Amino acid sequence: MAVMGSILEAIGNTPLVNLERLVKHWKIEGRILAKLDNLNPSGSKKDRIALGMIRSAERKGLLRRGQTVIEETSGNTGNGLALVCALLGYPFIAVMSKGNSIERVRVSNAFGAKVVRVDQAPGSKSGEVSAADLDLVIKETERLTKELGAFCVGQFHNADNATAQETTGDEMWEQSEGKIDAIADFVGTGGGFVGIATAMRRHDPKTRCYLIEPANAPYYSGEKPKEEAGHHIQGGGYAREVPFLDRSLITGCVSVSDEEAIESARLLSSVEGIFCGFSAGANVAAARKLLEGTEKGKTVAVVICDSGFKYLSTDLYPLKD
Ligand SMILES: Cc1ncc(COP(=O)(O)O)c(C=O)c1O
Repeated sequence: MAVMGSILEAIGNTPLVNLERLVKHWKIEGRILAKLDNLNPSGSKKDRIALGMIRSAERKGLLRRGQTVIEETSGNTGNGLALVCALLGYPFIAVMSKGNSIERVRVSNAFGAKVVRVDQAPGSKSGEVSAADLDLVIKETERLTKELGAFCVGQFHNADNATAQETTGDEMWEQSEGKIDAIADFVGTGGGFVGIATAMRRHDPKTRCYLIEPANAPYYSGEKPKEEAGHHIQGGGYAREVPFLDRSLITGCVSVSDEEAIESARLLSSVEGIFCGFSAGANVAAARKLLEGTEKGKTVAVVICDSGFKYLSTDLYPLKD
């Protein structure tokens, strides 16, 4: 690997690992390929979109030199933007719900960003970010954007989010030498699902693309929302329409419970040595369900969205004797 001009060149081109040990552990047939986007410089897949959306805004003339950048984020996009903005010379403000883990606040602070933490909606639980919590974050972001004359990146509406995550699909395809039958992705903004599905279908229109939702917070599956809609899978599962999600990309929906996501995340760490967060666990738990069902014997590719280091303040990895 040649000397890099800056850490920005270390974004993307992450390893793709065959989870043979886990497949053996679960006694299932087929392959799960895991794209280690937890190894991006700020610890998540969102570094790709941070760089992609800022570079695109510069090209389109939407972002002035030195202008303040602002974003509503569950933390990972904030971490990515904090890093990218630090290197490219933009002051950055991340607006987050207090329901998201504190590590991500500290990481953004470390990169020099300001983090505004928004109180959760009445009745919301810490560690669980609901659609109502997200609405409060969006409202505060809109207010600050106006007040400061800032550039709001807007990952929930910005199609460059999905375009940037097409690189993930393209890399998966190349690294697997085109041997992927299906992909599955847990949806937050939907940029990952749309980007990866778009790239895969470009390479092979027969690729099956599964959207993952928390068992407690279904939306695209058409199931009725549960009374208790809270869940622990931080970064998504808001049980609402995703603005740029083209439904024709969806082969099917897979629902994953907190317990399944947590069990898979812990096994990814202890069996495969892949230290990850809740949503990576959800992705791998969904891949397991697919290999136990309609995709038996096939190859399913998923993303390891972020690092387990971002969850040390939660109960994902408890202390053991
Ligand atoms: C940890 C984590 N997993 C999954 C997602 C969902 O990804 P996307 O927004 O591309 O749908 C996010 C998004 O914030 C995230 O932070």
